Amino acid sequence: MIQRYVYGSPLPTEAVVRDLPVLPGDPECLTVRKDASSISFSMPLEPDDMIFGLGETVRGINKRGHVYRSWNSDDIMHTEDRQSLYSSHNFIVISGKKRTLGLFLDDPGEVIWDLGDTSMEEIVITSLNGDLSLYVITGDSPRSVSRELRGLIGKSYLPPFWAFGYIQSRWGYGSAEDMDSVVHEHRSRGIPIDGVCLDIDYMDQYRDFTWHPEKIPDLAGLVARMRRENIHLIPIIDAGIPDDPEDRACKEGLEHDAFVKREDGTLFRAAVWPGLCFFTDYLNSRARAWFGSLYRPLLEAGVDGFWNDMNEPSLFYSMEGINLAYSVADELRGKNLRVDDNWKLQGTFAAVANNRDDYKSFYHDMDGLRVRHDKVHNLYGYGMTRATMDGMHAFDPDHRFLLFSRSSYIGAHRYGGLWQGDNRSWWAHLKLNLQMLPGLNMCGFLFTGADLGGFGSDTTEDLLIRWLELGIFTPLMRNHSALHTREQEVYRFKSWENMKNIITVRYALLPYLYSEYLKAVHHDDLFFRALAFDYPDDEIACQTEDQVMLGNECMIAPVYVQNTSGRVVYLPEDMLLVRLRAYNDMDLVPMKKGHHWVDARLHEALLFIRRGCCIPFASGKIESTVDIPDHPLYLIGWDPDEQGYTLCEDDGISYLEGTERTLKPSDPALKDSVIIRGDVQ
Ligand code: GLC
Repeated sequence: MIQRYVYGSPLPTEAVVRDLPVLPGDPECLTVRKDASSISFSMPLEPDDMIFGLGETVRGINKRGHVYRSWNSDDIMHTEDRQSLYSSHNFIVISGKKRTLGLFLDDPGEVIWDLGDTSMEEIVITSLNGDLSLYVITGDSPRSVSRELRGLIGKSYLPPFWAFGYIQSRWGYGSAEDMDSVVHEHRSRGIPIDGVCLDIDYMDQYRDFTWHPEKIPDLAGLVARMRRENIHLIPIIDAGIPDDPEDRACKEGLEHDAFVKREDGTLFRAAVWPGLCFFTDYLNSRARAWFGSLYRPLLEAGVDGFWNDMNEPSLFYSMEGINLAYSVADELRGKNLRVDDNWKLQGTFAAVANNRDDYKSFYHDMDGLRVRHDKVHNLYGYGMTRATMDGMHAFDPDHRFLLFSRSSYIGAHRYGGLWQGDNRSWWAHLKLNLQMLPGLNMCGFLFTGADLGGFGSDTTEDLLIRWLELGIFTPLMRNHSALHTREQEVYRFKSWENMKNIITVRYALLPYLYSEYLKAVHHDDLFFRALAFDYPDDEIACQTEDQVMLGNECMIAPVYVQNTSGRVVYLPEDMLLVRLRAYNDMDLVPMKKGHHWVDARLHEALLFIRRGCCIPFASGKIESTVDIPDHPLYLIGWDPDEQGYTLCEDDGISYLEGTERTLKPSDPALKDSVIIRGDVQ
């Protein structure tokens, strides 16, 4: 059941798709405190309460015991102390023996989630806007509460099937030669791949919707050549439009009056990659429609996937901010700086980027409603995602496109996916990648993944291979790294063949992964879940922070510690261990419920199938998603009662409805199936 309460005058976010009646008063479960500038909701916590959700945030699957802050931020240090990352997903589920309760705050401004941090026995959620819709969701389990929320916020984005293939990316790729070389290195070694990303260097002077005349002299020709190799090019688009009347997007944006303005009506400017930029008012439907139309030349050239970036929006500096910093520098120039002065100098420059004063200095025109940016800050990336997807639909309403964004808010999950931002080549971030997945799914973001191998810092060979062993399960499977870091394409490493073999596993698993993804979209369900969602009465399962359920049949437990040849895995029920080395090389070990040390050498990925289930695999060697329909399926599982598997399929590209069929191990067409029928000795 969902109950809606309204405080102040909520801003139109279009996060929800159902209009629920507003209840009078306050929810019984919460204590509400209002003051002039904020409103807070508090609730005591029981000792056994767990808290799930909040989408893209640091720390564990159970979010209890930390303060999080909804404030979309370009922050490259995803360390434990961080309160905000690039997105804000204002939904939690509190689950304990006494109750299961969901809270969704539809509030696009700053929200502070003190989840048992100040007091370990209390939650305090504070909205600094004080204008919001609060949805209180009750249900008999965290999964049913999450489904209720998903019914409220609308169906999750469905990308084309090819987008589930392996994607190679790197900041630095910018020319046709770069593309040719990446594709050649993969194809000549038989490393499966479906997409290559173009980062900012493909643009002419970092200007959106341009491509460099020398580096990419013939974009349509390049896209067509790539397509013959079954490769999709995925260019990046950034939020800032350069302040330069020679620039087409700038000229048109000025003509369309599409950029955000200051209080006095002058245009707001701040620097990003191309220097000083204007920022499209994505919260205005006219400006959104115009921005969406800018993708057309790239779409006409055959591009069918994009990643949108810097859309928190990230601001390197405003003239006001940097001038202030210069004046501090001038004041201190030539002095013998004591510690305070030194901190002042450094702190002033550090505070220039993404400065709160800048976010307070411009306004949106929300179709007639003038709103200061900080009140709706968390909607900016959502608006960009929506503008892009609407533009792509206007270009071709019948086909699905790939789109993923860095910044988002609930609602954006209907228009695109997201990647988890600028992580680092740290083992801790491999674990964080896993731990973010269930919360993101709860908030509707099913198409997600992290930069495999890590974006910042130098990766190591073992880290990349272990990370690929998690990446084979995430809907977005992209290897991406930053400029000046160690090159981390699979073929750069001695053990590239092992890595290639792991990627072949991804392709063999695609029939299952895609089928489970479709089911999660159609039934407002979760592709990844905390174990607590499936085994609420099992205390160990509830406290398991490094394993997640994948679809209805499986559990994953990746190795995320260096120099280990396996890990301890908790099986909440009997499961079949599938130790995967390549699409055609795996061990099957039925295992009893309980704790186990499970061997997993560097080139072995772990998958666990529930007893009583089986899952489909595509047979044979596959080099890209187009090959999959030609490869017969077979089943693997521990399925003594012939339950079989319900396969959900569609054409992978249109919006035509899909079909379901049940695959039974005894079906002669599935003759290569490997089914364990007996008990464990
Ligand atoms: C941002 C993005 C990153 C990209 C870089 C250059 O840091 O998050 O993925 O490579 O910008 O465009």
